[in-house]
Amino acid sequence: MSKKLFIETLGCAMNVRDSEHMIAELNAREGYELTTDAREADLILINTCSVREKPVHKLFSELGVFKRLKKADAKIGVCGCTASHLGKEIIKRAPYVNFVLGARNVSKIGDIIHKDKAVEVEIDYDESQFAFKDFRATAYKAYINISIGCDKQCTFCIVPKTRGDEISIPVDLIVGEARRAVENGAKEVFLLGQNVNNYGRRFSGEQEKVNFSELLRRVSGIEGLERIRFTSPHPLHMDDEFIEEFARNPKICKSMHMPLQSGSTEILKAMKRGYSKEWFLNRAAKLREMVPNVSISTDIIVAFPGESDEDFAQTMEVLSAVRFEQVFSFKYSPRPHTEAEAFTNAVDSEVASSRLHTLQAHHDSILDEISLTNKGNIVEVYFEELRNDGYIAGRTDNNIGVKVKGSEEWLGKIARVKITEVSRTVQYGEIIA
Ligand code: 5AD
Ligand code: SF4
Repeated sequence: MSKKLFIETLGCAMNVRDSEHMIAELNAREGYELTTDAREADLILINTCSVREKPVHKLFSELGVFKRLKKADAKIGVCGCTASHLGKEIIKRAPYVNFVLGARNVSKIGDIIHKDKAVEVEIDYDESQFAFKDFRATAYKAYINISIGCDKQCTFCIVPKTRGDEISIPVDLIVGEARRAVENGAKEVFLLGQNVNNYGRRFSGEQEKVNFSELLRRVSGIEGLERIRFTSPHPLHMDDEFIEEFARNPKICKSMHMPLQSGSTEILKAMKRGYSKEWFLNRAAKLREMVPNVSISTDIIVAFPGESDEDFAQTMEVLSAVRFEQVFSFKYSPRPHTEAEAFTNAVDSEVASSRLHTLQAHHDSILDEISLTNKGNIVEVYFEELRNDGYIAGRTDNNIGVKVKGSEEWLGKIARVKITEVSRTVQYGEIIA
C-alpha cells in the first residue's frame, strides 16, 4: 500500500506552488499519494504563512489537533514562512513535530523526512535552478515560479526574512516549464514572484539578462498558450514599457494587482514603499486609459503606526479615484524582525477596526456599482472547475469569477457567456457559443 501524504497550505500562491513541488518530490522519490484525511496520513505537512500574526497563533492550535488525530507512527513537518522565522522554536513549543523546513528549502523535502528533529531554514539557500519534479492540482492552469525571495525592505513585511534575497529563475527554465504545462493541457500560466516586474535584476551565475516585459513576450510566444497571469507586480516598477506590453499583448489577462498599502505619501514613506500617492494614481490612470476593460486589485494595510485620520482619508480618496475591482484589506499586524516592529506610534486598536470597516464598506459600495454594469455583457470564460452543484466555474480574462450550469465537457475550454445575474463576488451566466 502506498504511503499517504496530507498537506495543508496557508498563505499566498507562492506557497501553493511550493506545496505542489513538495507533493511532486515526495511522490517521485518516496511514492507518497495525497490524502484529504489527516487521520490516515503517514506524513502531515503544514505549509505556513507568517505575514500576519493570527495565522502563526493558529499554527500551534492546529498542530495540537493533528497530534491528537494522527496515526501513532505518522510524522508531522512544519514548512513555509513560519518555519523560516521560528525555526527550532517550533520544536521547542511542539516537541512532537518531526522536522521544520523553511520556505527557501523546499527542495530538501525528500531528505528531511528521514531526519528526526531536523531544522532546515537556511535563508540564502539557492533553489533558483533546482529541477523540481512536476505536480499540478489542476491540468488547466499552471503556477510557475519566476523568482524566489524579495529584495525590498518594506518596514511592515517579514517576507524578506522568511524568503531571503531575490533571485530570478533563468528565462529558459521558465519558458520550458510553461511549454510542458501547455503540452499537458493548460491554456493558462500564472507567473509567480514577490516582485514579478523586478524580474531579471539578479540571477544566480551567468544567465541571459531579460526583464519582465521581455519574459512576457517570450512566454506569450508559446503555441497553444492562451492566457498569462502574474502576481505580484510592484507599483514602483510599473514603468511605461511594462504597462504598454500589458496593454498590447493579447495573451496577457487584463487583470492587474497593484498593492497600494496606503494612500498617504507620508505613510508610504514610513513603509519604505518607494512611491507616492501621485505616482500610484498616475500609473492606475495610465492603465485604465490604455486598457479600458482592465480590472485592478489591491492590498491595503490600515492603521500602520502613525496613520492619522488625514492619512486614512487619503487612502479612501485613492479608493474613490481608482475604483478597484478587488481589495484585500488588513489591519496592521506588527511582525518580528521588521523595522516597523520598533515604531512606538501605534494606532489604537478600536480606531484600526473602525477604519477597516469604513474602508471595506466603501469598497463594497463601489463594487456593487461595478458589478451591475456587467449584467447582460458577453464575456469569454475559461472553465477550470467542476462544482458539485451542477455548475462549472471559470474566470474572464479580467478575472471575474463566472458560473454557468454545465458539465465537465467544458473544462479546459474557453466559451462565450452572457452574464444573467451579478453579485459582488461571482456572476452567473449562460453559454452562448
Ligand atoms: N500587517 C498587515 N498586513 C500585512 N501585509 C504584509 N505585512 C503585513 C503586516 N505586517 C499585507 C500586505 C501585503 C499582503 C500580502 O499582506 O498588504 O501586500
Ligand atoms: Fe506568502 Fe508572504 Fe505568507 Fe510567505 S509570508 S506565505 S511569502 S504571503
